[in-house]
Amino acid sequence: RTVSLIPCPMTFGQPFTGTDMGPELLMQKGLPSMLSNLGWRVDRVPEVLGKSPTSPTSTPASSFNAKNSSLVGTGAKELAKICYSKSEEGRFPLTLGGDHSISLGSLAGVLRSRPNTGVIWVDAHADLNTPWISESGNMHGMPVGLLMEGMVPEGKSVGEIEGLNWLSEDWKGEDGWPAYTNGEKPPTLQPSSIVYVGLRDVDKEEREAIKSLNIKYYSMYDIDRLGIGTVMEKSVEHLLKDDPDRPLHLSYDIDAVDPGQAPATGTTVRGGLTYREAHFVAERIANSGNLASADLVELNPTLSDETGAEETVDLGLQILTSMMGKSII
Ligand code: ARG
Ligand code: MN
Ligand code: MN
Ligand code: MN
Repeated sequence: RTVSLIPCPMTFGQPFTGTDMGPELLMQKGLPSMLSNLGWRVDRVPEVLGKSPTSPTSTPASSFNAKNSSLVGTGAKELAKICYSKSEEGRFPLTLGGDHSISLGSLAGVLRSRPNTGVIWVDAHADLNTPWISESGNMHGMPVGLLMEGMVPEGKSVGEIEGLNWLSEDWKGEDGWPAYTNGEKPPTLQPSSIVYVGLRDVDKEEREAIKSLNIKYYSMYDIDRLGIGTVMEKSVEHLLKDDPDRPLHLSYDIDAVDPGQAPATGTTVRGGLTYREAHFVAERIANSGNLASADLVELNPTLSDETGAEETVDLGLQILTSMMGKSII
């Protein structure tokens, strides 16, 4: 089996610089050889969009409530193309962020190739906002919302947002991301095709959407109540009950982990996953045998002291190797 390692150091979905340092640090600390030691053939993909000379706050305003949407959208499209073609080749696209807005690209790409993909979203946040409901306008809070069926208000469309025309029905197509023809629709996610794990900071409109669309979630309250073992059994069961061979995508935001273990990230929320819970989530998904693509996002080593930065990057590496099949014994 081949994993395509995709460094995507994009930061425009949130206000901090430093979120671009994740991929390089993970690579330097030996991620490729760790993966080959686990039996993967490693296909190293060149950096997607590279580092931008401008800071996330010094960019043109968007006419929508979606900050830097043309930068976020063009970057996501480039990533979508790569994840789409790697999926078509039967590879495992593993994207290293960058902020969580990149998952708009990785998920759209994977969904276009494997439309029945089920998603496990491990995060303190639901990232279910859209420009029509977001309080902050930060697009790292929107990757799920922009792809989710039922989140766009009547008469509006995601394709009208600057940078996101590649998600509009009448997209003309370009190299690597063809037009939607023969009845094909732009990629979307069904509310029943995602499970949240680790939620503890959810905006009012997001909460209402989770309830009205009946989206499955296990918040920190549920993890305390049921234990992480039961939570993961139920999560896997929810996604695989109708099709045991369904491909799964794991989107792992490092801020799901308690800031004691993972301080180096932009939107920390206390009361998160313990060190072992953070691993177990990845180990259990790996054990399902269905994991087919993944992201690890929101590492920002500039937002804590040196020890905290190192511990957060190390934890990221451990989570990645766990999801790719490393077991304790
Ligand atoms: N809900 C908040 C917002 O939309 C926070 C989102 C944080 N997202 C993240 N990927 N860290 O602004
Ligand atoms: Mn988050
Ligand atoms: Mn909040
Ligand atoms: Mn997130």
